[in-house]
Amino acid sequence: MPLPDPKPVLDLIEAFRHSKTMFTAEALGIFDRLHERASSAAELAAELRLHAGALERLLDGCAALGLLRKESGIYRNEPVAEHYLYSESPDTLSGYVRYSDEALFRMWSNLGDAVREGAPRWHQTFGIAGAIFGGFYRSNDAMRNFLRGMHGFGMLTSPHVVAAFDLSRFRSMVDLGGGTGHLAIAACQRYPQLRAAVFDLPRVTAMARENIAHSGLADRVTTRDGDFFAGELPEADLFAVGRILHDWDDESVGVLLRAVIRRLPPGGAILIAEKLLNEDGVGPLAANMQSLNMLVVTEGRERSLSQYGQLLRAAGFTEVAGKRTGVALDAILAVKA
Ligand SMILES: C[S@@+](CC[C@H](N)C(=O)[O-])C[C@H]1O[C@@H](n2cnc3c(N)ncnc32)[C@H](O)[C@@H]1O
Repeated sequence: MPLPDPKPVLDLIEAFRHSKTMFTAEALGIFDRLHERASSAAELAAELRLHAGALERLLDGCAALGLLRKESGIYRNEPVAEHYLYSESPDTLSGYVRYSDEALFRMWSNLGDAVREGAPRWHQTFGIAGAIFGGFYRSNDAMRNFLRGMHGFGMLTSPHVVAAFDLSRFRSMVDLGGGTGHLAIAACQRYPQLRAAVFDLPRVTAMARENIAHSGLADRVTTRDGDFFAGELPEADLFAVGRILHDWDDESVGVLLRAVIRRLPPGGAILIAEKLLNEDGVGPLAANMQSLNMLVVTEGRERSLSQYGQLLRAAGFTEVAGKRTGVALDAILAVKA
């Protein structure tokens, strides 16, 4: 019998090296510096106080990964780096790259212990005990990187999530744990009759306000400080939860869904943006990887449509529909009869 092709294993042995090469180039400021002007390795090394020969290897690695172009010894950003890795680009994913490098990469090195104990790794990795968002927001920089990371991804997904269902009958939306507000903004851009409030912890809504001001929708998108596990939620005919339910276990999700349904009128709904797992739990691959990520950093998990359906029906929702959007987050709409 011929041996099976070792490529899947060989590729996985190498996968983290690819990620770490990009993370390190971003952390050293390479993409930001090359946005200003194309340069040789020697020039960059002198300016950024790095070892020229070692930097050349890093830059060549980035070029082999398709992030930089090298011509006659001069490096420049490829368009993909210019859009997604230059930190001031409107489409930047640099926040998520930093969050992945500074938090996830370190926390995933404790994945074995997470599987042993079934619990997140903030204490083991950073010495931070208590509520999980104490870990995500362990410093102002960590909070901004995380939220900018959520924002970069959200800019790619939110327009698809709000288009997955016809939301034109709704007038008022509350985006619970809305972060920088990209979902509320995308919803108001698509549905001119809609007004939205981004509901989040006070230190987060300050960042949402910066973003809402840039969107030109400040007349229809506002912010509301609050804790969605404490006290009554605002009233609305549509609630949104984007990457919220996957942070929490079934019991906490039930508490949140019951708090939502109490504030909805009949015919009101909840829009959920999450990656949907296949019904047998295997695939899409990105949903499985995100579910492991949730194991390492939160109390939650990714779920299938029927798992969301069970939680939603237990809280009193009736019609539950799911749509795969083709982008990194799928959409579920559940209606209160
Ligand atoms: C994974 S992020 C998702 C952010 C945003 N929905 C998005 O998709 O970009 C979770 C959000 O929930 C917020 N959050 C966590 N606990 C909260 C609470 N108890 N009350 C209100 N917001 C909370 C966090 O500040 C954060 O913005």
